[in-house]
Amino acid sequence: MQLIIRNLSKVYPNGIKAMDSINLEIGKGLFGLLGPNGAGKSTLMRTIASLQSPDSGEIRFGEIDVLQQPLQLRAVLGYLPQEFGVYPGISAEHLLDYLAQLKGVNSKKQRKMLIDEVLEVTGLLEAKKQKVVAYSGGMKRRFGIAQVLLNRPKLIIVDEPTAGLDPAERVRFLNLLREIATDSIIIFSTHIVEDIKSLCRELAILAKGRILQQASPQQAIAPLIGKIWQANLAPEQLEIIKQDFTLLSTKYLDHQTIQARLLADGAPSRVFAPVSPQLEDSYFLALNHVKPPVI
Ligand SMILES: Nc1ncnc2c1ncn2[C@@H]1O[C@H](COP(=O)(O)OP(=O)(O)O)[C@@H](O)[C@H]1O
Ligand SMILES: [Mg+2]
Repeated sequence: MQLIIRNLSKVYPNGIKAMDSINLEIGKGLFGLLGPNGAGKSTLMRTIASLQSPDSGEIRFGEIDVLQQPLQLRAVLGYLPQEFGVYPGISAEHLLDYLAQLKGVNSKKQRKMLIDEVLEVTGLLEAKKQKVVAYSGGMKRRFGIAQVLLNRPKLIIVDEPTAGLDPAERVRFLNLLREIATDSIIIFSTHIVEDIKSLCRELAILAKGRILQQASPQQAIAPLIGKIWQANLAPEQLEIIKQDFTLLSTKYLDHQTIQARLLADGAPSRVFAPVSPQLEDSYFLALNHVKPPVI
């Protein structure tokens, strides 16, 4: 099953073009939607989830014409928004039971099986008697996935799930996505390149409503092999280098030393050494190209 997006555009009433002729083809597995704040990630995800209409364009999920048949889509969709609601003060188990009833699972026995299954997958079985309001941030996110899994969705959309999680919870959450991605399409958005690197089969970079690149992590860095150079520079040296080369990133090592990475066909100077390209390089390069030129 494939999700196909054609020429999707949206201008909000305030004039902001949040989607600018977006085209994507997404297959089974984990798909990362990478972009800075304001890129249009949430707008795109809400539109795919049939919660918001585009001005123009087309979305197909297998046989379903998403814009014409939103109810058919919702039957196979699991969507976890960026901001999600307040939880009532009841246990995870009871809340899932309630939600499963809403989703039409009428048999009590069947609900029990389903709930144990989603709690197991999300690592919450032992915390099932606890109130969801009292869960940690990471547990709440995992509960969000448990809830989404209740109707065994074929298309799962998760908007910025790692925002605000501590490093250990982040890794745990991403591993959970990896585990459930075997049989469905999972699209998740993030502004953190690290989230995508080892995890996603494919990614798209989105900025200012436009898809700048769709590729596998390997494909994204392939054109940069042999072209990324790194050196530790003093601030004055950096100022000079900046004038002639495409800087990708800088990082202060201490107050006198800046580690600089840049793109060049050959060594910029003797102090630069070739380094292997990282997904960050590809991301910063893609973003550089949409910035207006500095005058
Ligand atoms: N309901 C809305 N009305 C007007 N502008 C909006 C609305 N929602 C989002 N925007 C604007 O559209 C752009 C894309 O927003 P969004 O889709 O939330 O991006 P992201 O999720 O990547 O941060 C931003 O400039 C944002 O301010
Ligand atoms: Mg967003």
